[in-house]
Amino acid sequence: MKIVVTGGAGFLGSRLIAALLAQDSQSRIISLDRTACPVGNSRVESLSGSIDNAADLKRAFAGGADVVYHLAAVLSGQSEQEFDTGLHINVDATRLILEECRALPKAPRFVFTSSLAVFGGEMPDLVPETMATRPQSSYGCGKAIGELLVAEYSRKGFIDGLIVRLPTISVRAGQPNSAASSFVSGIVREPVAGQPSECPVPLDTRLWISSPGAAIDNLVLAGSLPAEALGANRVLDLPGLTVTPAEMLDSLERLVGPEARAHVALTQDTRISAIVCSWPGAFDVMRAKALGFVADEGFDEILQQYLKEI
Ligand SMILES: NC(=O)c1ccc[n+]([C@@H]2O[C@H](COP(=O)([O-])OP(=O)(O)OC[C@H]3O[C@@H](n4cnc5c(N)ncnc54)[C@H](O)[C@@H]3O)[C@@H](O)[C@H]2O)c1
Repeated sequence: MKIVVTGGAGFLGSRLIAALLAQDSQSRIISLDRTACPVGNSRVESLSGSIDNAADLKRAFAGGADVVYHLAAVLSGQSEQEFDTGLHINVDATRLILEECRALPKAPRFVFTSSLAVFGGEMPDLVPETMATRPQSSYGCGKAIGELLVAEYSRKGFIDGLIVRLPTISVRAGQPNSAASSFVSGIVREPVAGQPSECPVPLDTRLWISSPGAAIDNLVLAGSLPAEALGANRVLDLPGLTVTPAEMLDSLERLVGPEARAHVALTQDTRISAIVCSWPGAFDVMRAKALGFVADEGFDEILQQYLKEI
């Protein structure tokens, strides 16, 4: 089996590749990313290139692909600030990748990592599966267009597509990134490391989150679920956990101590609040759970997972 992962050097991409390697001993994996994939393994080929470059895509898809994970993207903060870059990579380049898949002899499973940022405007407390997409950010708009393309290429039989809308991932190891949601990890990660951090949204903002571990388990499953189990509806809101920054800081104080919590300053940022507060805080995920997708139990467990990893 040959698997292509775009964004294979990224936070989720590199973890996904490690999980796919552990799952079976046969698969060959191609990572296409601007930077080298950090997973060192003879079954992983790391291609440095860009998803908007036809020659780089040809190299990645030479010899076909059974499963494609399309993770490479311009994230929410950068998409808002660099409108053209965001739409070019998140929409135009997604179309180029879909065309590569269309040219393959057999339609590959195509997993598209979308986001709850496709939603916005008036939101019910619990978002139903049938909720219309109404993005309130350039990132959400790019993902919503990507979803439509994946659904259409799937309907035409060019790919065997599956769109998974990931919750915000927390706790994300490493450095702050260009996502507007970067603080959802930062208000925990930085204090644990003894560093100051800022919470830019009101403390009672409802966030829909997933640990990296649950997200990777769900991505692995998305690549292998039989098409018959999915039927015609190829969009899934993945399970997550509803939590507020206040609850996250309570966990931080409980598990790490009051001095860690004291590192977090409440400094409202209207730009970030406008994006993040437009995202829904809870979803009806009955269908995803019935298919075997998983969620975390609580933020204490997520924080414990992070503390064990570092
Ligand atoms: N992490 C989250 O909270 C979250 C939530 C919802 C959806 N997602 C989606 O999941 C995917 C992975 O997210 P992540 O957190 O791992 O992000 P990340 O930024 O860590 O990884 C993205 C990778 O894509 C690569 N990339 C960007 N532009 C590229 C280009 N033109 N050509 C080749 N590679 C390029 C980057 O170099 C990076 O390694 C993205 O599609 C993101 O939109 C993430």
